Amino acid sequence: MRIAVTGAAGGFGRHVVARALLAGHDVVAIDLPAAVPQDDGHEAGAVEWRAADLVAIDEVRPALAGVEAMVHLAAIPSAHALPEPQVHAVNVSSTYNVLLAAEEHGLDAVCSASSVNAIGGIFSARPRYDRFPVDEEHPTYCEDPYGLSKWIGEQQSASFARRRPGVPFSALRLHALRDDYESAVWSAAEDEFRWRDLWGWVSFDSAAAAVLLALHRGHPGHSVYNIVAKRTGSSTLSAELARHWHPQVPIEGSLAGTAGFYSTEKALVELGWDAGDEHPAISDGERSESAVPR
Ligand SMILES: NC(=O)c1ccc[n+]([C@@H]2O[C@H](COP(=O)([O-])OP(=O)(O)OC[C@H]3O[C@@H](n4cnc5c(N)ncnc54)[C@H](O)[C@@H]3O)[C@@H](O)[C@H]2O)c1
Repeated sequence: MRIAVTGAAGGFGRHVVARALLAGHDVVAIDLPAAVPQDDGHEAGAVEWRAADLVAIDEVRPALAGVEAMVHLAAIPSAHALPEPQVHAVNVSSTYNVLLAAEEHGLDAVCSASSVNAIGGIFSARPRYDRFPVDEEHPTYCEDPYGLSKWIGEQQSASFARRRPGVPFSALRLHALRDDYESAVWSAAEDEFRWRDLWGWVSFDSAAAAVLLALHRGHPGHSVYNIVAKRTGSSTLSAELARHWHPQVPIEGSLAGTAGFYSTEKALVELGWDAGDEHPAISDGERSESAVPR
């Protein structure tokens, strides 16, 4: 399958491009002109780079020409990296533009990077959680420009999915991407820095697998998935973390041991994504020859 990856030069984009190539796909890598690398480390000609500012629809249309599926990762991935209006404007307009161009080009599958912050979290003054574990039906209480842009991005995906009922649109709620558990783990003394976003994380490899599985999903329509590792990055027991930092939140599922606070059951059932596997081997469901539903 010929897959466009926006934000391909970014931290996660590089992993998604590498994994897509390993799974036998062709990749069109899209990023801002200044971000396109001279040498991306791949075999010559393996990846076609296209420079585009996705806020400009006239640059988006040619960038997505000739591809079959799109992974949309480009974003300002923080509430504070730029002034608030810019974080909102870049994330919301670029997502609208790529979804529109994907529709115009008749793409077969779309997967967008959302974030656990779509419901509020690390950038909230005091995040609100109604229950643990947090599933994809949890209401949003986001209050910052980044989380809001990710929440709106999910609504944009749902809206475009309604216009094309045969096509799978997935929004993956990613969480603190790291190489592995060792680079995600912190000491009990650091627990207080992560109480807002519930000590979660996910490995690049595992999240990249979720992206490819989502493109090959067996049913059409818009769906949101928590893509978060099965265990937290804290050495403190999860029930103890919940009691200490979020005593008012009802625990409605298991938080045994260092179990993560986000439910990943939906991703397991619908995508076949295993939240416990940090470095999954490429599965058949990610491969180029897997059928894309129409
Ligand atoms: N890194 C994380 O821990 C994390 C967690 C949750 C969600 N996410 C989401 O995953 C995605 C990838 O995150 P990342 O960590 O790789 O971010 P990153 O900043 O490393 O990469 C983002 C890329 O998007 C590109 N970009 C930004 N504005 C653009 C524009 N107008 N046109 C074209 N390209 C543009 C940047 O040049 C950059 O290469 C983002 O959507 C982010 O919100 C990341």
